[in-house]
Amino acid sequence: MDNFTFQHPTSLHFGRGQISAIDREIPANARVLLLAGGGSIKQNGVYEQVRQALGSRPCFEFFGIEANPDYDTLMRAVDVGRREKADWILAVGGGSVLDGAKFVAAAIPFAGDTWDIVAKRAPLTQAIPLGTVLTLPGTGSEANNGAVISRRSIKQKIPFSHPLLYPRFSVLDPETTFSLPPRQVANGVADAFTHVIEQYLTYPVDAAIQDRFAESVMQVLIEEGPKTLAQPRDYASRANFMWAATWALNNAIGVGVPQDWASHLIGHELTALHEIDHARTLAVVLPSLLQVQRGPKREKLLQYAARVWNLRDGPEEKRIDTAILRTREFYEALGLRTRLADYNVKPDTAAEVARRLKARGLVKFGERDDITPEVVEKILRLAA
Ligand code: NZQ
Ligand code: ZN
Repeated sequence: MDNFTFQHPTSLHFGRGQISAIDREIPANARVLLLAGGGSIKQNGVYEQVRQALGSRPCFEFFGIEANPDYDTLMRAVDVGRREKADWILAVGGGSVLDGAKFVAAAIPFAGDTWDIVAKRAPLTQAIPLGTVLTLPGTGSEANNGAVISRRSIKQKIPFSHPLLYPRFSVLDPETTFSLPPRQVANGVADAFTHVIEQYLTYPVDAAIQDRFAESVMQVLIEEGPKTLAQPRDYASRANFMWAATWALNNAIGVGVPQDWASHLIGHELTALHEIDHARTLAVVLPSLLQVQRGPKREKLLQYAARVWNLRDGPEEKRIDTAILRTREFYEALGLRTRLADYNVKPDTAAEVARRLKARGLVKFGERDDITPEVVEKILRLAA
């Protein structure tokens, strides 16, 4: 196991009625910038609960943060925050609203070109404190310090992170997710599952806790994912899904182990170019990546096959084949198609994605730095 320092600064309020915790978390004299998406929170009762919890605090609302939050939209929110001298941010929505809020929290006090926060990872010295109410489990954004920002005017989608951007608190009330359309539930399950794989399916470093945690989060998602899709108002199942998604990317299972975020990096390019839902890009890339990288990932693939899919007998190559197939079938059973052609994307996008990553200086990544632009192209050609 590699050395690490683990600190998790976010308070998590989980369960029914927990939106009321906002009143204890945000100072009574705060000036709050409330950020939200296209309006789902006004239809499912979440907005009323949030406003009630905020009481008489001055609150400035900004709605309209879209899926894959856009820099230009977010800069309008930054303007509101600066104009109203907001000193707290409350993000209410899915991963896009939460990610967008992290950018806004960093950008409001930032003196230079705010795109540098994302594109150049400009050093931050301060950020506005942020709280969140999560209404769509999957990204883990409620409990991590990362965000992914799109800038459609230049066709870019770029991740960034900073220790100052952990939410101070997050509310996770499974009932706020009952209104989700099946597509978003399926996306959330698949996204969370992939987050675990990317911190687990690399090479062994004798990290028993991280491995067993990762395997149990995957098993819970395999069991509860289809259940919560079929029975959206089953509280117990939805609660287990929601908590699993948080653990998939709260930066705990990834400590002290090698990681491989190549599927995400490649997936972001597919979203930037073709506007495919984030989770769906992963369902396309990951099975193909595992196939191409089956050599370097061999030991962990066998462990994954045995412990997650109970494939313990027969020739090792066959076990690996079946484990990759089960992964693909898991996405498909949730309703996520796993081929580029399913999204009307032509095979020559493979070369385009490789070229774009290269242009950004991303020429070797993966746990052994062996995923080069050539390998990216190979992965996407296999995903045609
Ligand atoms: O905008 P509203 O009206 O709220 O509707 C949203 C949106 O249309 C809707 N929705 C959310 N909660 C709902 C609801 N509809 C009904 N009832 C509810 N309770 O769902 C739609 C999609 O929302 P979005 O936030 O875009 O989805 P998701 O949570 O999947 O977030 C995706 C974004 O997160 C980034 C992705 O790249 C993408 O931009 N990620 C962030 C990560 C992080 N911060 O750590 C890691 C992830 O890997 C991911 O990259
Ligand atoms: Zn993701």
